[in-house]
Amino acid sequence: MSAAAVAAAGGSEPEQGGPGRCRGYRGAMIVAIDGPAGAGKSTVARALAAALGFDYLDSGALYRCVALASLQAPEISPAEHAAALDVSLGERVLLDGRDVTQAIRSPDVSARASVVAADQAVRLALLARQRELLAKGDWVAEGRDIGTVVAPGAELKIFLVASLQERAARRAGELGADPSQVEAEMSVRDARDRERDHSPLQAAPDAVVLDTSGLDVATVTARAVDLVARARGSDRP
Ligand code: CDP
Repeated sequence: MSAAAVAAAGGSEPEQGGPGRCRGYRGAMIVAIDGPAGAGKSTVARALAAALGFDYLDSGALYRCVALASLQAPEISPAEHAAALDVSLGERVLLDGRDVTQAIRSPDVSARASVVAADQAVRLALLARQRELLAKGDWVAEGRDIGTVVAPGAELKIFLVASLQERAARRAGELGADPSQVEAEMSVRDARDRERDHSPLQAAPDAVVLDTSGLDVATVTARAVDLVARARGSDRP
């Protein structure tokens, strides 16, 4: 997002030079994995983090927690929920100490997440949290704006894509839901994520775009490991 675009949208420009810049190439690394719903971000990012021994950041879980909190307490604005968010990310996701790992994956929360994610005040609150986390150590971070806004200096940026039909079929399989309904919901969410003024879903100019259509997780993960090795300038990650 250009400064002009942000100004035109009436928002404030997220501070540039966030995580990834001047972190010391050998000392710390951020791998940004962005892309639309169902492109394989979570599965590949988790597998890649495990393969490399890096920490894993699921930024979507933060937006999903704001969405859940705002569905449960609609009298409080999404921005206030985001500013006060008491969340713990890991194997299980805890919101205010409650395990919401399953609850944040419901279709209602998915739809609400892309609505609250269009709110610049929500984004700025969550941006600060993400940058705090990413400031130290090695990370595989996944989302929609990691390579463009959260960590524009990431040492490697991968943008995963796949056809809408395949993405919907994958997600329907995970949720045990009807593929055509998931496809319809996903296409609404895709459009909202791509067309919003603040941090829209788009590949960073220096991202490697990887089409995962027809590829299994092991193949995509192996390609990602290979890209990390190349980014580090060696044959081994
Ligand atoms: O797994 P999936 O791609 O379906 O969703 P997610 O990554 O959990 O993200 C849920 C929603 O949060 C997305 O539809 C986006 O609207 C929003 N989001 C975002 O705006 N920026 C991010 N870095 C991550 C998620």
